[in-house]
Amino acid sequence: MENKVDITICLGSSCFARGNQQNLKFIQEYLKSRNLTANVNFKGQLCSKLCNEGPVMIINGVTYKEVNKITLEDILDKTFAN
Ligand code: FES
Repeated sequence: MENKVDITICLGSSCFARGNQQNLKFIQEYLKSRNLTANVNFKGQLCSKLCNEGPVMIINGVTYKEVNKITLEDILDKTFAN
């Protein structure tokens, strides 16, 4: 993979409580189990002002809302399929 994948996860209190706590763990395990950790710029950010639509994360500039474990796995599979 040539370009690193940018993953920014909202760690504001609303998103964290709504699921990003679990999503964060899921991403870490996903990357680790596939040896992808070095291919990713993984960052947290404070409230993205989209609390009502959280949990929120941004992957390669695309904002994903209401991310749960199932949609997250799908998003990651598609992101790393390229
Ligand atoms: S806490 Fe994530 S958008 Fe506000």
